[in-house]
Amino acid sequence: MADSDPVRRYKKRVAGIYDRASSIFDQIGPRAFTQWARRLVEFAEIGPGAHVLVVGSGRGAEVFPALERVGAEGFVAGVDLVASMAELLSADLREREITNAAVCRMDAEALGFADASFDFVLSSNVLFLCPQPVRALEEMYRVLASSGRVALIPSGGASGVDPSWRLREVFRTHLSESAAVKRRDEEGRSLDTALQDHLARTDQLTVDVTTLGGLRKGLHSVGFAEISIVREEKEFFFDDEEQWWDWQWSHVRRSALEILEPEILAALKSDVFERLRALKENDRIRVRGATILALAVKN
Ligand SMILES: C[S@@+](CC[C@H](N)C(=O)[O-])C[C@H]1O[C@@H](n2cnc3c(N)ncnc32)[C@H](O)[C@@H]1O
Repeated sequence: MADSDPVRRYKKRVAGIYDRASSIFDQIGPRAFTQWARRLVEFAEIGPGAHVLVVGSGRGAEVFPALERVGAEGFVAGVDLVASMAELLSADLREREITNAAVCRMDAEALGFADASFDFVLSSNVLFLCPQPVRALEEMYRVLASSGRVALIPSGGASGVDPSWRLREVFRTHLSESAAVKRRDEEGRSLDTALQDHLARTDQLTVDVTTLGGLRKGLHSVGFAEISIVREEKEFFFDDEEQWWDWQWSHVRRSALEILEPEILAALKSDVFERLRALKENDRIRVRGATILALAVKN
């Protein structure tokens, strides 16, 4: 029976997508999430000995560069909504014999840590997946020590790192032919659309934390000060169309692809490949991504 609570139902859906993607998440092509997260860690200016929490730690994109910064005296904790994601990262830490980091399954909107436990909270490309992002910001604020800092990329690594803005029409055409999409039920919509619907419905979510103004407002509303937000761009290269396609299945985009009927998926793939071949430069696919990075201090 479907869960009657829309927030819980939504989180289950997000968790399912990342559970199915966890073995390949950020392991394909230019590893765009790793690159953005490395930049976020640099932006946060973490010093030696710091205690750092990574919210939505995925396969460790922020965890590993944060460990380089905190050194042997510091500690990095990672939490993720998805058990398989946390298990894969834990296995990676064990394999590298890292003892000053730990990862577990936990929801960003209900952190199981005592108040004032960390000097830094980092979170890259997670806030846009939270149905109640302001609650996630409140939790980040709560677990930070006084003068502790939060560093965030609310979203952007996925959608920005994608020539799909030039391929949007192709996607739209094929998606509109799908019976699943035509049904327009919860499963028949892409996650992005479901999230937008949810945002529109829920009062608390009048703050869209994925925009510069919205994120500033959200951070301010939970008590953060000295808020600075910058916009940055990066270029990424894919070896070929197949690599770009495989990459689509490794992140949230798969939510739209996995509901398509096989013949529609095949037609979409062939159409998209034709366009991608035309976009090639020096035999590679160059894509430009943009995102915002925010830094703020707990009063
Ligand atoms: C796009 S990935 C980013 C992972 C990592 N921060 C990175 O930059 O590579 C989003 C991650 O957030 C996790 N996630 C989604 N909703 C969450 C929530 N409510 N609480 C904690 N983690 C969540 C997903 O399972 C996934 O691992």
